[in-house]
Amino acid sequence: MDNTMTLFPSLLLVAALSLILLLLLHRTAARRKLRLPPGSLGLPFLGETLHLISAYKTENPEPFIDERVARYGSVFTTHVFGEPTVFSADPDTNRFILQNEGRLFESSYPGSICNLLGKHSLLLMRGNLHKRMHSLTMSFANSSIIKDHLLVHIDRLVRVNLESWTGRVLLMEEAKKITFELTVKQLMSFDPCEWTENLMKEYMLVIDGFFAIPLPLFSNTYRRAIQARGKVAEALDLVVKERRKSEGGERKNDMLAALLEGDGGGGGFSDEEIVDFLVALLVAGYETTSTIMTLAVKFLTETPLALAQLKEEHDEIRARKGDSEALEWEDYKSMPFTQCVVNETLRVANIISGIFRRTMTDVNIKGYTIPKGWKVFASFRAVHLDQEHFKDARSFNPWRWQDSSATANSTSMFAPFGGGPRRCPGSELARVELSVFLHHVVTRFSWIPAEEDRLVFFPTTRTQKRFPIIVQPRVQAV
Ligand code: HEM
Ligand SMILES: *[C@@H]1O[C@H](CO)[C@@H](O)[C@H](O)[C@H]1NC(C)=O
Ligand SMILES: *[C@@H]1O[C@H](CO)[C@@H](O)[C@H](O)[C@H]1NC(C)=O
Ligand SMILES: *[C@@H]1O[C@H](CO)[C@@H](O)[C@H](O)[C@H]1NC(C)=O
Repeated sequence: MDNTMTLFPSLLLVAALSLILLLLLHRTAARRKLRLPPGSLGLPFLGETLHLISAYKTENPEPFIDERVARYGSVFTTHVFGEPTVFSADPDTNRFILQNEGRLFESSYPGSICNLLGKHSLLLMRGNLHKRMHSLTMSFANSSIIKDHLLVHIDRLVRVNLESWTGRVLLMEEAKKITFELTVKQLMSFDPCEWTENLMKEYMLVIDGFFAIPLPLFSNTYRRAIQARGKVAEALDLVVKERRKSEGGERKNDMLAALLEGDGGGGGFSDEEIVDFLVALLVAGYETTSTIMTLAVKFLTETPLALAQLKEEHDEIRARKGDSEALEWEDYKSMPFTQCVVNETLRVANIISGIFRRTMTDVNIKGYTIPKGWKVFASFRAVHLDQEHFKDARSFNPWRWQDSSATANSTSMFAPFGGGPRRCPGSELARVELSVFLHHVVTRFSWIPAEEDRLVFFPTTRTQKRFPIIVQPRVQAV
């Protein structure tokens, strides 16, 4: 009772303040003769944000976007977490936003997220330093590095993890474990051990904190995440210091070695910078890749014809190689249907449904002016699931990628890894990890879902129950 008594006046206050701010916004816009994209700025802040969240919480947020697009067109204004935001469901506008990073737009995260990332995080860097770190990351996940160094570990770690699968398996948990181990290997050459397991526990608490938006200050999850971030940083800091001490010894071929040498020109990095960088890579690569692994298996389970064709492709590869031989780059390059499955999973799942930016100056788009300091959201999801850009866009159909004329048309619409200066440096790595994972899963197991599970899209894309399946070793078919 007490609570409602105090809550009510503060809600009124919020509503009143919102209204005043709104009027001010419209007045400024009018004075500067700005033509804003149409939209629902008229709705009170909270109303619109709750509307958006509830849409994304359901199995299918498309009706929300569809309705707005039908009413206002593919670029419209809305409110996200109390801020006026321009929402783009238009591929050209999305590309414009991505390409003009650092000139007209800059990435923008809430303060709560910045605290978790650390102030030297790649995700928060700007300008030349960002350019340098971005290309350093690329040079540690590009295809020649994967081919010559990483593939053998990916193959091995996937295999070892699959060995323990029996009976009921929580696919998302397994995928997370694999991805975490892979990332730690790539970053600092550690094989799975007690240390990595403990690190993973703390690390998962940090990740939870990212999803404590929009009310981080009131959330225990967030407080725990900040603490865990401290522990993760401490553990990584020790690793960095150890490595510095042993400098002069054998040079390891990992990300940490490159960071310690300050590769990419411009001098070395401090320990703190290196730790923040390692945290950024863990954040960016872990949840995304493990979710895409889980969802690929889910979509395949629901599409038996695609699963059968995928099995055939991988059984052929396995038949050429004997039972325990590792996959090689040539094998990866001879998985045409798998690549269709990978693209289609990325298209339908939209793990990163889009990206937030902030305007650095007044920006003209499609005859509208977006005032300086506004948020924009380039929605990949809205484009990927638009019937105008992809035929029968809302069904999982890997065969669509076999039709090269249609694919040529779609490539400019297809941006699961973003674009421009911040395009995901881990895109090739994610593709390889997913392909190798699928190879071993389909050649070793058959499975059925253990219970019904469904997709949700807020705060991130995932399944509600971590996709439990019941696995069975395949009778030696090959
Ligand atoms: C399916 C898996 C993945 C998806 C869908 C994905 C998607 C994305 C997207 C859309 C961005 C752009 C963010 C922006 O423009 O603000 C991005 C950035 C980034 N990704 Fe990925 N990613 C995946 C896997 C990975 C992996 C495995 C790594 C590890 C190497 C990684 C490392 C990064 C980093 C470091 C950035 C920041 C780049 C920058 O700000 O310059 N990602 N990712
Ligand atoms: C990948 O990065 C390495 C440096 O780590 C570089 O020597 C190589 O040329 C790059 N390969 C490609 C294909 O960009
Ligand atoms: C998958 O999408 C990429 C664009 O991100 C494209 O270059 C590639 O050709 C596609 N693969 C297939 C098999 O269509
Ligand atoms: C490619 O896209 C354009 C415009 O979206 C459309 O008019 C054309 O028919 C498409 N071509 C194919 C082969 O799908």
